[in-house]
Amino acid sequence: MPPPRPAAADAPVLVLGLETSCDETGAAVVADGRWIRSNVIASQTDLHARYRGVVPELASRAHAERILPVVRRALSDAGLGLDAIDAVAVGHRPGLIGSLLVGVAAAKALAWSLGKPLVGVDHVHAHLYAGYLAEAGGGPPSDALFPALGLVVSGGHTAIYRCRSPIELTRLGGTIDDAAGEAFDKAATILGLPYPGGPNLDRLASTPGANDRAHDFPISRLSPTSLDFSFSGLKTALLYAVRGVPGPDGVFPREAGAPVEPERSNLAAAFRRAVVRAIILKLERAMDRLAGEGAGVRSLLTGGGVTANTLLRSELARLARARALELRLPAPELCVDNAAMIAGLGHRLLEAGRTSDLSLQALPTVTG
Ligand code: KG4
Ligand code: ZN
Repeated sequence: MPPPRPAAADAPVLVLGLETSCDETGAAVVADGRWIRSNVIASQTDLHARYRGVVPELASRAHAERILPVVRRALSDAGLGLDAIDAVAVGHRPGLIGSLLVGVAAAKALAWSLGKPLVGVDHVHAHLYAGYLAEAGGGPPSDALFPALGLVVSGGHTAIYRCRSPIELTRLGGTIDDAAGEAFDKAATILGLPYPGGPNLDRLASTPGANDRAHDFPISRLSPTSLDFSFSGLKTALLYAVRGVPGPDGVFPREAGAPVEPERSNLAAAFRRAVVRAIILKLERAMDRLAGEGAGVRSLLTGGGVTANTLLRSELARLARARALELRLPAPELCVDNAAMIAGLGHRLLEAGRTSDLSLQALPTVTG
């Protein structure tokens, strides 16, 4: 791949980012790794709603249909032609393999035909970059934020990172079963809430008068020093609270069905509290561990769809205040999957010379 075009003294470097790792087809143009010129997302929520979860084959087919119209729209929203783009960045890991392949193939074709650099971006790392983007309201992209602790909580990922810079990340822990968003979505199904479950459960839990202490749901700690997460026991506790504990024959005492109010709101509030408590507890552990190693952090970077959760947002703000850390909490539209975060982090990788050639692969699993 050719090196980036040398920019004129004041010409911004424009990166086109593509995002197709799961069920959002995204394209965005970001200037100088910070300024969002356009950010287009074609959501597939309606397509998957009747199945109450993402159907991989439907997702990849929809990406294939939408990727080029979405790219065209991102360019026209930015008022740019393809020839103005300095590099093409693509989320190439982790995610659904068929979905990733669509973005990677499109990015390779664009980069090759334009003669511009191609940059492969880790989708999970990119979530932590969302707070850098100007529209996120997170303040300037200052490297004084580092070292930082990073939290990504989404439908597919739940992990804590030690971040030395936006592109030097070490995974400290992650979920051993469900991701936090997945747990919210499954809990919403148990409570009879429509898809997408997480935001609906959040709304229900915020019902005035909902009692989050009505149920004492387990907060998973794992071993005393673990920085990993587990949400499957909590999910089972909710199921048993709704349908009773199954007998030796495996049959539940109560039929499946939405609990009546106010019990349903109480269950949602108690469940949300347990998830949020588990996340905050692991962040506190991570901060204590790093401080004990003489590697204290200056800021808390967050990202992923679950950071749109209202209780989590307020608890993260409280934690950051208590620990005197700067908190980067992206605006809700940048918490969910988007291509602006891919273009932004792609810019930083481009600056560091970490470009890819046409052998760039789509990788479904977490690699770091
Ligand atoms: O980051 P994202 O858009 O996609 C993945 O990379 O997974 O995250 C989507 C996840 C879904 O599980 C969704 O239910 C959850 O984020 N989510 C929420 C809220 N908004 C989105 N979970 C809890 N409370 C919310 N307000
Ligand atoms: Zn994501």
